[in-house]
Order: sequence, then C-alpha cells, then structure tokens
Amino acid sequence: MGIHTFNTDEVQSLLRAACNLDGMGGNPRFKQILHRLLGDLFKAIDDLDMTPDEVWAGVNYLNQLGKDGEAALLAAGLGLEKFLDIRMDAADKADHIDAGTPRTIEGPLYVAGAPVANGMAKIDTNPDADAEALVIHGTVTDTEGKPVDGALVECWHANSKGFYSHFDPTGAQSEFNLRGAVKTGADGRYEFRTLMPVGYGCPPQGSTQHVLNALARHGNRPAHVHFFVSGDHLRKLTTQFNVAGDPLIWDDFAYATREALIAAATQKTGGTALGLKTDTYNDIEFNFRLTHLYKGTDNQLVHRERAAVDV
Ligand code: DHB
Ligand code: FE
Repeated sequence: MGIHTFNTDEVQSLLRAACNLDGMGGNPRFKQILHRLLGDLFKAIDDLDMTPDEVWAGVNYLNQLGKDGEAALLAAGLGLEKFLDIRMDAADKADHIDAGTPRTIEGPLYVAGAPVANGMAKIDTNPDADAEALVIHGTVTDTEGKPVDGALVECWHANSKGFYSHFDPTGAQSEFNLRGAVKTGADGRYEFRTLMPVGYGCPPQGSTQHVLNALARHGNRPAHVHFFVSGDHLRKLTTQFNVAGDPLIWDDFAYATREALIAAATQKTGGTALGLKTDTYNDIEFNFRLTHLYKGTDNQLVHRERAAVDV
C-alpha cells in the first residue's frame, strides 16, 4: 500500500537507539547483528505492509515456541540448520577440503554423557517389540584412508515409534537407550548393536508443526542414525545416515539427506551369537573419513546448547 517509513531519520534513529549503536559498552558484534536483524524486520514490515495483528501473532508465537522448547526444532524445519551446513560446505570447498564424509545437521536431540565402550557397544537397553535387530559397523579413517586409532564414534537414534530417549513424551525409554559411544582401536573399527529406528515426526501439537501446517508441509524425517566422530588432530564430524528405501528419503522436513549418506541394510544371520534379539538381523556398513585440522584448528566445531546427563 505504499507506507514506507524505513528510510526516514526517525526510524533509522530508532534502530540505532534500540541497539545502542552510538553508546559505549555492550558487545559490539551483538550490536552489529541485532541492528541488522531488527532493521531487516522493520523493512519487511514496511515492504509487505504487515498489519499490527500479523506482527503480534509473530511475537506471541515466539512465546509459545519458547514454552514448547522447540526453537532448535524450528531451526531444523525451516532449513536454518541446513543453511549453516551449506555455508560450511562452501567454506571447505574454498579451502580445498573435499575428501571427508559429508556433514549433515546435528538436530536438537543429542544427549551428552553416554557411556563409552571399546570397539563395540550394545546400545538398546529397553526391549522394543516392533523393532528389528540392527548392527551398524565400519571403519574410521582419515582422508588418506589410514585407520584412526582412538577415534570416538558417538551414535544416537530413535526407537520404533520415532522417539528418542530423554525426549520421549511417553516416558518409555531409560536414559541413553539407543545412544552410545565407541572408541576405536588401531584398526579404526567401530560397531553398534542396536535396533532399527523409525523416522522422527515433530510433536503434532507443537509450535514447529503449527508453522509447518500453515505452510502445508509435513514434519517428518526418514529413518536415520546420527553420529559425532572425532579423533586426534582431525576435525570432529557431525553427520547421519538415512536408511535406503524409506519413502521420505528425499522428503525430509529437516533437509538432512545427502546422496553419500544413504545407507542400505542387508539381511544377515548369526545374530544370536552376537547377543541380538533374533538370529536374522539388519546389517549396515557405514565408514567415516575424517578431515585433518585446518591450519591447526577444528574450524567445523559447533558450540551450541546440548542436553547432558551424568551417569
Ligand atoms: C529434528 C529431529 C531429528 O531427529 C533430527 O535428526 C533433526 C531434527 C527436529 O525435530 O528438528
Ligand atoms: Fe534425528
């Protein structure tokens, strides 16, 4: 409708004052970022002629998002987490770092503190009648293919209902069910004995799903398994594999699927001897190639708030 106030002295002064740009103190980087974000919001309100009702609906939504504890979930669903990966991929390309296993989003459901085992961990502590047995195994190497001795492979995934322990709304799982960590030996090998996951879905009544509904989008992910993989003098990798054959493999609401991160399960026998629930089991081989530090530092390490439990 053509009410444009953004470029007036009054609005520009308001933005500078709100972020205390002309005052001393505070965090200069924070001031810079907030001034830009707030300005972009003001400009969008002008350009799209957003009504006060629309703006207050957005403000109230933030309250609800916080109450639901879903801000990190929304970040994944709106592609913000994927966008950060795209930027790290581009930085790696510019630095000619291209031989590692691709990264993909962490998601909001990691819990620090899972027990560490040498070489192999059985991580299904709760029975799950609907889940088939699964063995995940492979080798951690560097980009030259040399096995990494002492690599730490952390793994977490959902149960047959798509729920993660610690965040399970049914309360059905004990702490660290389907979560574990393995340290490799000189051969770089790791193995997890576990159960087949099912794809995650956003809480149906939650504020993330509320936004997705307004966009006519679903809030589901294909079956997947998350990993952090780290080793001495190597960059810590955040990745997942998605299980081949899942109908949502290329329709992930969090955009985490990548061609090189699709893993196929093969059927094997001999599970009884491995302590699995059935003799026939699913076997997934997934190998990790870790990249070297960049100029002596891990420039892909991400610091964010994560759940943690002491055992
Ligand atoms: C979300 C859930 C996941 O299991 C995951 O891997 C990534 C994101 C989410 O709810 O946003
Ligand atoms: Fe997940």
